[in-house]
Amino acid sequence: MHAFVFALVAMFSTTVLLAAVDVWAAVDASAALYLKYCSSCHGDEGKGRGPVSSDFKVKVPDLTTLSKNNKGVYPLQRVMSAIDGTRKVHGHGDPAMPVWGEAFKEELKGDKYAELTTLRKTQAIADYIAKLQR
Ligand code: HEC
Repeated sequence: MHAFVFALVAMFSTTVLLAAVDVWAAVDASAALYLKYCSSCHGDEGKGRGPVSSDFKVKVPDLTTLSKNNKGVYPLQRVMSAIDGTRKVHGHGDPAMPVWGEAFKEELKGDKYAELTTLRKTQAIADYIAKLQR
């Protein structure tokens, strides 16, 4: 019985490991993801001056001061939830503009680990923004 449980655990861990490797390849460079999905509004450097930022009634926020405005702590969860749409952000929730979490999932349709890859992508972008803090 123990051996059986052990075999199950071993199989499961291998699957998870393999999935992680796959997912890591799909996540690729976080900077490239940021430039693709975010820089049009937030700017290449994250300062909120992307090419379409002036089209918005609301000011596109400077993403490089998130830590500074949060007592020196980078608000990872706030950033991730703004990206995946679990927190409402006006500029992101506009009907004309998809919520990124949904957009990522749509791109990954049919992918076995779509949910996980979406989460990893979201975190990769959030980690990239963490590096932009000044
Ligand atoms: C089409 C323009 C646009 C794009 C593209 C865009 N954003 Fe935004 N974003 C905005 C606007 C506008 C706001 C401010 C909304 C508000 O104040 O209600 C905002 C707000 C945010 C916030 C909230 C900041 C805070 O103070 O909590 C974060 C974080 C953020 N965006 C990250 C991203 C990331 C990461 C991407 C790429 C995955 C992205 N945004 C793509 C327009 C955009």
